[in-house]
Amino acid sequence: MNREKHWERIHQSKEPTQVSWYQPEARLSLELIRRVAPELDSPVIDVGGGASTLVDGLLDRGYRKVAVLDLAQAALVRAQERLAERATRVRWIVADALDVPLATASTALWHDRAVFHFLTDARDRVRYVAQVQRVVGPGGHVIVASFGPEGPSRCSGLEVVRYSPEGLHAEFGQAFHLLDSKREDHWTPGGSLQPFVYCLCRVESS
Ligand SMILES: C[S@@+](CC[C@H](N)C(=O)[O-])C[C@H]1O[C@@H](n2cnc3c(N)ncnc32)[C@H](O)[C@@H]1O
Repeated sequence: MNREKHWERIHQSKEPTQVSWYQPEARLSLELIRRVAPELDSPVIDVGGGASTLVDGLLDRGYRKVAVLDLAQAALVRAQERLAERATRVRWIVADALDVPLATASTALWHDRAVFHFLTDARDRVRYVAQVQRVVGPGGHVIVASFGPEGPSRCSGLEVVRYSPEGLHAEFGQAFHLLDSKREDHWTPGGSLQPFVYCLCRVESS
């Protein structure tokens, strides 16, 4: 089964509050975003955002240029239903993060929680990093959150790659300046602990 069909099925078969990655509030992501992109007209994109509540938090804080991208349309529909009329303030993009033709240097902040770690093929990781570098451009920022070294080795029936903060930054390389990293203990709705690692980087001029 291809990636897109796999994720469509997951989002169609589970309530957004039942999936293991559900957070009532994306507290740490919001804190990091506000730190590096405090201006409310900063373009922010949540890549592989699914039905995450991060978009709600960004709108609550007054961000005006928010985009959510996901392979699975079903996930975005869930978020749109929750947001009701506020959904019209968001740009929704159904696409694969690896090859979506977003404009060069079009976003101030690229956010990814629990997407990059599904890229088990090194060639996909290289494509992903090139995409971030192009779409964000020099001076912009990226937040990538993956399972930490003690996290699960699989999620949603797929293998994942687990990272230390150093290992995650190494995937991005010297063109990304590591500003900070954080660990977060995420408790799934089923009561399991999933340690996450967040890296906050600035894209350097080449
Ligand atoms: C584990 S969920 C995380 C969702 C959200 N980021 C969160 O933290 O609540 C992974 C999401 O990434 C999406 N996804 C997986 N691979 C993708 C890709 N290559 N491009 C875009 N979205 C992708 C899936 O459809 C799913 O919604």
